[in-house]
Amino acid sequence: MRLEVSNLSVRLGEKVLLKDISFELESGEKLGVIGASGAGKTLLSLALAGVLPEKFETNGQILFDGSDLLTLSPQELAEIRGDHIGFVFQEPRVALNPLQKAGRQITEALTNHYSLTKQQRSEAATRLAEKVGLTDIDRILNSYPHQISGGQLQRVAIAAAISTEPKLLIADEPTTALDVSVQRGVLDLINSLSRGLNIATIFVTHDIAVLSQIADTVLVLDGGKPVEAGTLAHVLTSPKHEVTRELIEAARSAEWGTKSE
Ligand SMILES: Nc1ncnc2c1ncn2[C@@H]1O[C@H](COP(=O)(O)OP(=O)(O)OP(=O)(O)O)[C@@H](O)[C@H]1O
Ligand SMILES: [Mg+2]
Repeated sequence: MRLEVSNLSVRLGEKVLLKDISFELESGEKLGVIGASGAGKTLLSLALAGVLPEKFETNGQILFDGSDLLTLSPQELAEIRGDHIGFVFQEPRVALNPLQKAGRQITEALTNHYSLTKQQRSEAATRLAEKVGLTDIDRILNSYPHQISGGQLQRVAIAAAISTEPKLLIADEPTTALDVSVQRGVLDLINSLSRGLNIATIFVTHDIAVLSQIADTVLVLDGGKPVEAGTLAHVLTSPKHEVTRELIEAARSAEWGTKSE
């Protein structure tokens, strides 16, 4: 898989919400997108997944293996999205259906694609639950979202996102709602999926400490504009932009705060 984004801009009426975003990403690579609240991270994730509502005007190019997602028909776009792009939202309790058991939600996308018998569906749910490191699988698959923990739920959401073996995984702050130890487990999971399945990952966060555990390359957004880009090591050791320095400083003081407790 190769994703080539050039001069992607998004406007809403007169307002420019994203401006001139360009980057490239290949299978197995992980891009971390970081910026303060309102920087445009979620809009970028939605634009890349081709799910921005129509009121947003999008310009530029999003080449997914050579096809421009911005010029495809809705039907073609839905096919690429369904087959090749997995999406994980920040808050799994909001993203998942409260009235449907976890097992069913994990295999939802699969059954939209293939006709599976009940038996095949249940085997697929178990296999995916194992892949994302869930334990107590039978109980979890038969539970409603309110009956399982936040960390387990985020694993369920990731299992659903990788069920169709996507080439690209877009995760919008998938660990922000979780406490630090659970967060670490989910980051380890995304790292191992990216390696094991050779998935390309776009990982959104506002936390540079999280970013440093996951990203190979980094894109820093501020007010919808790209203000810094480069390898993780380069951005961390020689940040050029004020915004990047502030994010690094914020992570340092958070760490200091934890240690002094
Ligand atoms: N549906 C919408 N209608 C109008 N403006 C929007 C809409 N969604 C987002 N925006 C605006 O676009 C800008 C970027 O929003 P976005 O949600 O992408 O920020 P973000 O970086 O994800 O922030 P956060 O860290 O708080 O999630 C903000 O100024 C926001 O107010
Ligand atoms: Mg957001």
